[in-house]
Amino acid sequence: MTAIGCIGICTGGGDAPGLNAVIRAVVKCAFLKYKWKIIGIPDGFDGLIWPEKSYELKLRDVSGILPRGGTILGTTNRGNPFRYCTVENGQEVVRDISDTVIANARKLGIDAVISIGGDGSQTIALELFRKGMQIVGVPKTIDNDLSATEVTFGFDTAVTTATDAVDKIHTTAESHHRIMVVEVMGRDAGWIAVQAGIAGGAHVILIPEIPFTIENVCRFVRAREGYGKRFTIVVVAEGVKLPPELKDNRRVGSVGNLIGSAIAACADKEVRVSVLGHIQRGGTPTPFDRILATRFGVAAVDLIAQGGFGKMVCLRCGRVEVVDIAEAIGHLKTVSPDGQFVQTAKAIGISFGDSSPQA
Ligand code: F6P
Repeated sequence: MTAIGCIGICTGGGDAPGLNAVIRAVVKCAFLKYKWKIIGIPDGFDGLIWPEKSYELKLRDVSGILPRGGTILGTTNRGNPFRYCTVENGQEVVRDISDTVIANARKLGIDAVISIGGDGSQTIALELFRKGMQIVGVPKTIDNDLSATEVTFGFDTAVTTATDAVDKIHTTAESHHRIMVVEVMGRDAGWIAVQAGIAGGAHVILIPEIPFTIENVCRFVRAREGYGKRFTIVVVAEGVKLPPELKDNRRVGSVGNLIGSAIAACADKEVRVSVLGHIQRGGTPTPFDRILATRFGVAAVDLIAQGGFGKMVCLRCGRVEVVDIAEAIGHLKTVSPDGQFVQTAKAIGISFGDSSPQA
């Protein structure tokens, strides 16, 4: 192991509230505890393709960033140095420029890198580690679908934002006796939908893990009308699998709109749709996310000091631990239809559109 005097840090993939809190913790801990120099690598690993864009991060650079959403380093979900795309003479060309990235890190004097990112960024980190880069990972995604960690920072903030939206939708839904569809993020897993749905008092939650039918949702709406509830709130995860009768042209319209139109036609009621989109990725991180991000940042610096390269920090039973990146990637953590969240929701009468309401 090379003695550490300087570390690099980059953020890759979609941003998540709490990234700046990690950067701040890394800079503070690396400098105050270990006296290391810290280099900020902009825009994920892209910053090592153009090393002149990288710059030293001093304590003053991270002052005041704890409550800020986004990432002061910038990010991208396209920059994979092993499959780097450029357009040459009007043709798309894909190249492996990982050797350049590793050489540039050395030129900058970087002894080890902290890669903050989701599954895609950690896969790149593992490939770079296998080529000799001393690298450690910090997991990140608002979707909370990384199996190696109990929870990722950004998720709590996204759930808070989505819950706030469902709360606000409630009053207008009730006033107008409408069905309101709220589409939340969650490309492969329904964690935000389930948790914001329970916290916001939604009546129907539709998630990728549970097949549903429009007919079941409409029967549920009618059952509610039967006991005087003339409004219904449906929280939909963007990654939900549409029933066969609905054409899946979600690239044209949002999945929330497709489901909303189908419910309107079937239930013969007014439906309005709100797509929360990237609002869930912005804003100030909640205290939970700031604390988790700070714990992860400090743990990543300590991991470098211990020579734990090729590993990623994670949360298990409330404790920060480490896992091999090789073990951590490629396994999605999805919502179990038989798990406590879904069963708790069903026990209080929330429908997942998978069965007819009981008479
Ligand atoms: O993975 C996080 C996430 O926010 C997903 O929920 C969403 O599908 C995706 O990123 C959106 O990515 P982009 O910012 O590239 O549109």
